[in-house]
Amino acid sequence: MKRFISLVICLLLTTISMTAFAESYVPSPTIEGKFGPNPYLVLVNKENKLPDNWLDLIVLKPAQNSLGEDFLVEEITLGHFNMLREKLLKEGIQIELDSTYRSLEEQQEIWDEWLADPELGPEYCEKYLAKVGYSEHHTGLAIDIFIVKPDGTIERENDEMIADRETFARIHEKLAMFGFILRYPEGKEDITGYNYEPWHFRFVGEDVAKEIFENKLTIEEYLAQIQK
Ligand code: DAL
Ligand code: ZN
Repeated sequence: MKRFISLVICLLLTTISMTAFAESYVPSPTIEGKFGPNPYLVLVNKENKLPDNWLDLIVLKPAQNSLGEDFLVEEITLGHFNMLREKLLKEGIQIELDSTYRSLEEQQEIWDEWLADPELGPEYCEKYLAKVGYSEHHTGLAIDIFIVKPDGTIERENDEMIADRETFARIHEKLAMFGFILRYPEGKEDITGYNYEPWHFRFVGEDVAKEIFENKLTIEEYLAQIQK
């Protein structure tokens, strides 16, 4: 009887872990198989433009942050972000959507705004802002966050967030569990082409995210490795 109970428990645990694995990476049906084996690994950077047919393949879902601001996020990415947010909330950290899917026109508007701002200008843009058509935000898989502090104050300025090492270290260690990577890490500026952006997360699915996190890679390095 004891052996039977162990067998049942064992079977049950296997089923639960298989379900967890299956759920760990379920591509949206609109995109599955249409963009390589893992569409969530699409590479958009200074050299690689958003693929032409991308928007026909993804489903963008509406979302709101706690300030009532509206966003669009790729559906699987949004589900995973919500789980990440819940997990962090339980640990006393409130993250909120700050910038998600951006159309080409929206990226152009940011360029116009930043270039007109005397505190920013072209040099700052080169380090922090992708050219129109070359932003990961066009994919719907990238999320910028801001933080609501326990006292209700909002931490949203780039410099403020870069300085908040402690909070972001706690956030970054949870990303891979929910399929996200820190897309522009410190020390990898030459590879990504952008300065450290502690707030910019990119969905790639849990398995890839774990590998990238554990080996301290960027998407560029990960893709180069698997294409060898
Ligand atoms: N901030 C990133 C690089 C973008 O504009 O897509
Ligand atoms: Zn971003």
